[in-house]
Amino acid sequence: MGKAMKNTKDILLKMLESNRGDYLSGEAMANELGITRAAVWKAISELRKDGHDIVSKTGFGYVLSEKSDLLSAPGMIPFLNGPATNPENLYVYDELVSTNQTAKQLGAENAVSGTLVVADHQTKGRGRLGRTFFSPKGSGLYMSIIIRPDSKPNQAVLTTTATAVAVLRAIKTWANIDVKIKWVNDLFYKKRKIAGILVEATTDIQTRRVDYLVIGIGINVEGKSADFPKEIESIAGALFENDNHPQRNKLCALIYNNVMELTINPDPEDYMDEYKENCFILNKPVDVIKQSQETITVIARDIDNQGGLIAETKDGKTFTLNSGEVSLRPLSYE
Ligand code: BTN
Repeated sequence: MGKAMKNTKDILLKMLESNRGDYLSGEAMANELGITRAAVWKAISELRKDGHDIVSKTGFGYVLSEKSDLLSAPGMIPFLNGPATNPENLYVYDELVSTNQTAKQLGAENAVSGTLVVADHQTKGRGRLGRTFFSPKGSGLYMSIIIRPDSKPNQAVLTTTATAVAVLRAIKTWANIDVKIKWVNDLFYKKRKIAGILVEATTDIQTRRVDYLVIGIGINVEGKSADFPKEIESIAGALFENDNHPQRNKLCALIYNNVMELTINPDPEDYMDEYKENCFILNKPVDVIKQSQETITVIARDIDNQGGLIAETKDGKTFTLNSGEVSLRPLSYE
């Protein structure tokens, strides 16, 4: 069962979230819920203890401050479309080992396509190529979406590029920020990596078809480069340097809505031009680092409709990089 909307507290929080900026009177809330004003007051003080910044004013009632930025199901639901609007399919945690790991378990337990798992903090966020993804408390967004694709064989491959565009669109709508894509699905802002995407597929052994995909997205919403661990300090960045940004709940919902729109039945026609326009490595030199650590410098020429990178060597030969098994180091971040 989804961890949402179980009690009075959740219902009150949803009312406050849907009315940010407008005071709600204790009496109106009590009437709506069929409880006493004292019960409303008690639930409000519990919400405050949880960390929600609720302002009260005599004669006006209660309002959730614009700065209040805790992740919660009631805070996301007003902005969500699709299956996660049903609290049964929405899981919001303070802390998880990894949202991808939890989503995989839920997928194995037959969670529906469109199930959303979100955490404020991950103790062992997973990155590509076996790396970890730094996931500190209160300043990022770590989310995973379970998708049960139709049977098209190239769907899993296209999902990664489609997700990059979905996140790019969501960030633009949320904060009017233009992020750039580094093939295959890292997002950059001001020449620093601000988001990573990890798509994991679980295949049915008997049918050999993808049973479900877990699309994991991690965003550094706020922070300064000095906040990051030494090994990623020179490359990692965040969308904002401080807490002066729109709410993470809304960003989460916008990402979810865009991911659902582009990945349920991904079609390169819907997003590949936008992917290429925003892919900052195209027509630039990049180092391709293979698993063996062998490195070659190529020009990144184009992206094909399977999401493959068409690379050109110094002697003019082209080849396509398809796998997620290589890492790329751009020689310029312009
Ligand atoms: C990468 O840049 O290497 C991919 C990072 C993906 C991180 C996200 S955070 C939410 C989801 N859960 C995980 O454990 N990983 C992904």
